[in-house]
Order: sequence, then C-alpha cells, then structure tokens
Amino acid sequence: MNLSRQDAFELLKWYVEMGVDEVIGDAPMDRYAQSAAAAKAPPKPPAAPRKAPLPPRNFAESRAAPVTAPSATGSADELAASAEERAARCTTLEELRQALESFDECGLKRTAKNLVFSDGNPEGRVMFIGEAPGRDEDLQGKSFVGRSGQLLDRMLAAIGLDRDSVYIANVIYWRPPGNRDPSPVEMAQCRPFIKRQIELADPQIIVPIGAVPARELIGTTSGILRLRGQWKSYKVNGRDVPVMPSLHPAYLLRQPAQKKLAWRDFLAIRRKLDELQQQDG
Ligand code: URA
Repeated sequence: MNLSRQDAFELLKWYVEMGVDEVIGDAPMDRYAQSAAAAKAPPKPPAAPRKAPLPPRNFAESRAAPVTAPSATGSADELAASAEERAARCTTLEELRQALESFDECGLKRTAKNLVFSDGNPEGRVMFIGEAPGRDEDLQGKSFVGRSGQLLDRMLAAIGLDRDSVYIANVIYWRPPGNRDPSPVEMAQCRPFIKRQIELADPQIIVPIGAVPARELIGTTSGILRLRGQWKSYKVNGRDVPVMPSLHPAYLLRQPAQKKLAWRDFLAIRRKLDELQQQDG
C-alpha cells in the first residue's frame, strides 16, 4: 500500500488514539483475514488429550513440576531449566542483573526496550513485588516509575517509607508488548530469577502488589481481594518471611474507593516493621 506522507501521518495518529504504542513486527498482519479463513476451514478433529503437565503456576510448585508449552527455540521445559541454572549461579544482585541482560531466550526481551530489574534500595527492609513493567518502566529501565509508581510513592510516604528504604521489583523483567498478560512460559522463565532476587535481597517483609505476584508467592489461584490484608509467609534462605499481599496502584487509580483497603494493608506493614525493629533491639 502506497500512502502519502499526510495519510501515513493520519494513520499513525489514529493508531496512537486507539492505544497502539508498540510495533512488534516489520510486516503488518491481517488477523481479521486469518480468523475469517479459520472460520471457513473444515472443523479440526478433537485435540488429543494433553500428555504433559501445565507449567508450574508459582514459586511453590516450580521445583516439582516441569514446564511444557512448546517454543521456537527449545521446549519450554528446557527454557525454564536454563533460567533456573543461570539464576542459581548468581551470588550477587549485580550478577543476577547481568545474567538477565544476556538472557536472550526470553521472547519478551526482543520487544522490550530495556530490562527492568528493580528500583529502590536492595538493602531496604521491605521488598515490593509488582507484575510487569509498563511503558514508562520499559523506557527508563526502572520498576514503578510511571503513574502507578507515583501513587506507590505516595502510599509509601504515608507510612514513612520511600525508595531509599524499600526495594522494588517485578515477577516479569521485560514489558509484555502492548501490556498483554505474560504467558505461562514467560512466567516460568522469569520465576527462577525473581526467586533468586528475593533470596539475594533477603528482605524482612515482602509485599506482592496485585494478583499475579501474590499468587506467585503464596501459591494459590485466589483473587487479590481475598488475599490482601492477611499475613502469609514465604521461605527465604530457610527463614519464614512475612508476606502482606496488597492492591496494585494501577487498580487503585481505576477504583479510588478501594484505597481504604490498601491503606489498611500499609498500616499493617508499618506495624510489622515497628514490631520487627523492637525485636531486633
Ligand atoms: N506495574 C507493575 O506491576 N510494575 C511496574 O514496574 C510498573 C507498573
């Protein structure tokens, strides 16, 4: 298709207005034509029963169950095993960051602009764990720097914390294109790294924000409104670390009335920090 400069500009403007903010291929793909062709095609025979188990859904299961979705560059099991090996070799957070920088096997790395490893202070007593970087985080290579991050900063300030006193990471290290949900294979590839990142940071309290990180840590399929506000625990270096799941700031931006729930969670985090401080003398 030959477009005039003006038409190309108008088309781009329209894409942006429609929310398209990422290019993920060189050639356009007409998905309407694909689905129309699929609809015309004769019905497929019923799929054979799945022989292999699904990828583990969380840290708790990740040692026991193999990952099995197929991939262009190796079986998903192999990809997850490779991630596990790389993460296990790292003895510092900097080594872990470098291992991720060179982890070309994760497809998300190809469409992202930057690795988003963390922000804040790795020595901080509280580690916040979100889901995946968004557009601003992708551009800056730091966790929670967009609108959600600004709200998170205000929530931290309300309990006397800031980015010098907390460490912030995500269960996914690269922005999924168009902010789509990460696939089970992508989750499985990032899982050994975030697990190792928690071990190396060794926080006193962990706060998964949103359903995805909460489920990863706690090993459940419950919704975040059910999980939030209750202390759970997560084993780090042989120690039970208190975990307080809370609501994602992006959700709070959409549902401001729910901020009262997050406020309760953050007060509980403040109390726990004070309690631990007293115990430490
Ligand atoms: N949302 C997340 O879960 N993580 C980020 O880093 C930014 C937005």
